[in-house]
Amino acid sequence: MKISILGSGMVGQALAGKLAEIGQDVMVGTRNPGKIADWLAKNPKVKTGSASESAAHGEIIINALTGTSTLDMLKSIGEAHLNGKILIDIANPLDFSKGMPPTLFVSNTDSLGEQVQRALPQVKVVKTLNTLSAHLMVNPRSLADGDHTLFLSGNDDEAKARVTSLLTEWFGWRDILDIGDITSARGTEALLLLWISMSTKLGTSNMQIKIVR
Ligand SMILES: NC(=O)c1ccc[n+]([C@@H]2O[C@H](COP(=O)([O-])OP(=O)(O)OC[C@H]3O[C@@H](n4cnc5c(N)ncnc54)[C@H](OP(=O)(O)O)[C@@H]3O)[C@@H](O)[C@H]2O)c1
Repeated sequence: MKISILGSGMVGQALAGKLAEIGQDVMVGTRNPGKIADWLAKNPKVKTGSASESAAHGEIIINALTGTSTLDMLKSIGEAHLNGKILIDIANPLDFSKGMPPTLFVSNTDSLGEQVQRALPQVKVVKTLNTLSAHLMVNPRSLADGDHTLFLSGNDDEAKARVTSLLTEWFGWRDILDIGDITSARGTEALLLLWISMSTKLGTSNMQIKIVR
């Protein structure tokens, strides 16, 4: 499958590396491929291009941009390359401008996921993978044999079902919980505040949340 990954940071690299390894046709959209030249040398199957080239390539788009750059970058790509496609939105609305810990630049009555969906009404936005560390996104079974929970939000039920089966097939996710329409992203984005406290206290990002029914 042709997959577009927007952003070449820790998340973009984790997703692109794993997806290329399992035979997917991945193009990372980046402003500066030279910045990741060493990583690309170790992951020769990953293609790079501009954000627009990457979005044009992808049947599915994965947003691994910073929260602060997400809306401008998606608007600059333009609807023609995005409309009708599933956009897996991993970005969190973190504001580091006042140092650590970050705050949320949108919360409570709105979310970044909703802002993206409003900006691109013809795109099927599915918010997921944003509540855990990059290494666990693509290798959930490395922790507690995958016995932990991934949340999923979005307005399009078919798109959520497709993303659920892709995450299971690609990475081996076992417990994916559809928590509702895109407004439910308010909760998972705000969960980052709890995540940061837990990670600081435990001294690790190798941890996850499990919903016990
Ligand atoms: N790191 C994690 O474990 C983790 C976990 C859960 C969710 N997330 C969320 O996932 C997203 C990606 O995380 P990350 O750690 O990979 O982020 P990151 O390295 O800080 O940034 C991701 C990419 O955003 C692009 N970017 C940054 N500033 C930009 C600007 N002004 N204009 C256009 N593009 C810009 C850059 O892409 P190029 O330089 O390639 O153009 C950069 O590689 C974030 O929203 C984060 O909150 C991260």
